[in-house]
Amino acid sequence: MRTMKSVCIYAYGGPAVLVYEDAPRPHPDAGEVLVRVHAAGINPVDWKIREGHLKEMLHHTFPLVLGWDVSGVIESLGTGITRLKVGDEVFSRPDILRDGAYAEFIVIKESELALKPKSIDHIHAAAFPLAGLTAWQTLFDAGGLSADQRVLIHAAAGGVGHIAVQLAKWKGAHVIGTSTARNHEFVRKLGVDQVIDYDTERFDEVVQPVDVVLDTMGGETQERSWKVLKPGGILVSITSPPKPETATAHGVRQAFVFTQPNSDQLAELAKLVDAEKLKVIVETVLPLSDATRGQELSQRGHGRGKIVLRVV
Ligand SMILES: NC(=O)c1ccc[n+]([C@@H]2O[C@H](COP(=O)([O-])OP(=O)(O)OC[C@H]3O[C@@H](n4cnc5c(N)ncnc54)[C@H](OP(=O)(O)O)[C@@H]3O)[C@@H](O)[C@H]2O)c1
Repeated sequence: MRTMKSVCIYAYGGPAVLVYEDAPRPHPDAGEVLVRVHAAGINPVDWKIREGHLKEMLHHTFPLVLGWDVSGVIESLGTGITRLKVGDEVFSRPDILRDGAYAEFIVIKESELALKPKSIDHIHAAAFPLAGLTAWQTLFDAGGLSADQRVLIHAAAGGVGHIAVQLAKWKGAHVIGTSTARNHEFVRKLGVDQVIDYDTERFDEVVQPVDVVLDTMGGETQERSWKVLKPGGILVSITSPPKPETATAHGVRQAFVFTQPNSDQLAELAKLVDAEKLKVIVETVLPLSDATRGQELSQRGHGRGKIVLRVV
């Protein structure tokens, strides 16, 4: 049996349940390809799944390889693959119900893969798919953001936020973003027109009405976001489903997005990257064997851009 290095869990729990070990190398079935992983992005969903927070919603079996952000090279093909070939450089936010990318190899459906942007390396490409698709699906699919509109992006310096800022600017919107003072220069350079220091200002007291709120925080941040929306505006959350009755009471709309794999949208994002209209900021790169440290950093919740595991 051929093996590979991987980081998996056998039970829900703290960072100590992460196991770096040799595991069987997976095989692609029909419609799937085997990807040699070069880099795997770390996202908050990884440690949320590890701790069991999403177990009612996502029914995983153990052992489970974590990590659903990947860039790599196609190693072999299952039957029926028409669009891709061995040797293609690809990136993906693969199916979160299956084994992830903290490993030397991963099997991914062809429909979840796109060719990686040519202008960036695997480390940066692995940081893109989940945050990029989330920004696209929240701002454009759910939020319907258009050129003449105003958007408030919470946690503008975070993995999702820093890409959402750039996509909203690319669309031509006026962008307001929240962060600590440490990140003000960073988010301004990405295109934020008005920066709110959430430590010293209450955004709901200083922001003029907006068409779209991207809620990356939930809780009190979500509660205070209703009143900054224009009538008919929309609050799009990725952390906790907003209450429809609260939206109605404020004369606005709401949506909850759980990001879905989408190769067409990934291809659009790749084009924007290669046209230098969009970039991903990678703050920390660690070896695969250091996934525990990567998750601990992610869990602190104050990163700038992304954390990535180098596999090759
Ligand atoms: N539903 C979905 O499909 C989906 C998809 C992606 C992400 N998510 C969720 O969305 C959340 C954000 O994800 P992410 O990848 O962007 O996380 P992240 O990269 O860990 O976000 C960290 C950022 O949050 C900022 N932050 C912390 N507290 C804040 C506050 N009170 N107000 C404003 N900003 C604050 C920090 O900025 P400062 O250091 O300046 O404070 C930091 O830059 C996570 O809970 C994640 O699980 C959901």
